[in-house]
Amino acid sequence: DPERIAVVPGDGIGNEVVPAAREVLEAVGPDFEFVEADAGDEVKAETGEALPDETRELAANADATLFGAAGETAADVILPLRSAVDSFANVRPVRAYPGTDALHPDTDLVFVRENTEGVYAGHEDEIAPGVTTLTRVVTESASEEIARYGFEYAAERGERVTIAHKANVMRTTDGLFLETAESVADEFDVEYDTALMDALAMHLVMRPEEYDVVVCPNLAGDVLSDLAAGLVGGLGLLPSANVGDERALFEPVHGTAPDIAGEGVANPSATMLSAAMLLEYLGYDDAGERVRSAVKATLESGPHTPDLGGDATTRDVTDAVLTKL
Ligand code: NAI
Ligand code: MG
Repeated sequence: DPERIAVVPGDGIGNEVVPAAREVLEAVGPDFEFVEADAGDEVKAETGEALPDETRELAANADATLFGAAGETAADVILPLRSAVDSFANVRPVRAYPGTDALHPDTDLVFVRENTEGVYAGHEDEIAPGVTTLTRVVTESASEEIARYGFEYAAERGERVTIAHKANVMRTTDGLFLETAESVADEFDVEYDTALMDALAMHLVMRPEEYDVVVCPNLAGDVLSDLAAGLVGGLGLLPSANVGDERALFEPVHGTAPDIAGEGVANPSATMLSAAMLLEYLGYDDAGERVRSAVKATLESGPHTPDLGGDATTRDVTDAVLTKL
């Protein structure tokens, strides 16, 4: 049977960049079965549900999901979609591509972010008027799982790992995260170091080329990966994967870009690079690498969409990538 790919464009430019990435997937061609489904503001306006059950079920059962973005309902869509694929790792490669004015042209690193707990586990309270609390959840099992994913990823590529933490202050929670990650490190023949996340933020701005794989707790990974995005020319270029043991969901880091939605000028690169990650996740390494090379070559030569200083449309860039493929 062909592998089944759920395609969920969502709102805004999701409807422009996801079809472009699908064309690229069709061009490099394992015989996928694509199934489209709705999510986001528009479907909520029609039906009252930002994430219809059919869409959730589709993602939960597909071999992989390609998602665009949702607007105001983003949290109501993406958090349940990530849990529908049992995603424990959020993987965000941050690479500088030639032709894009990156602040640091040597940047080539990947954040492996814990995707289920930390301060995003959601135990917030207002315990008295004007007094709020948040419980931070860190478990040995989730810390071990994310560290193992990060070390395996680095081992496959011959890269280094940096473990980000703040265990000097959050001694119990990040203490457990750090201790667990270091004991996973002992099982691998991979060079690693540990870094306090605040100092790491500074080092990433000054010397991003020194980092390969950065394993982080949830909130630290969210903030540090957006910071690193700024080093390589912004949101139109950044793919991501939400990885589970048996399923995964791939999406550009950016949102619905309401300021340009409908104009046909969104940069499809982030979503195409997400499609390359999808191919690799399913074992089509050569096809994934072909997509990445074609996107890279197009970024180098142009045409460029307006976010990169050009005047090309999404269609022009898609055609250029298809030609290179
Ligand atoms: P955004 O990523 O949509 O846009 C930020 C800026 O980057 C805008 O100027 C936009 O034009 C530009 N941009 C983003 N992607 C681009 C692309 N592919 N090509 C060219 N330019 C691009 O973030 P913003 O403005 O904070 O949020 C807009 C909406 O998107 C909100 O409703 C938010 O909730 C939603 N959102 C959804 C996400 C998701 O579904 N995963 C993630 C982030 C935001
Ligand atoms: Mg974020």
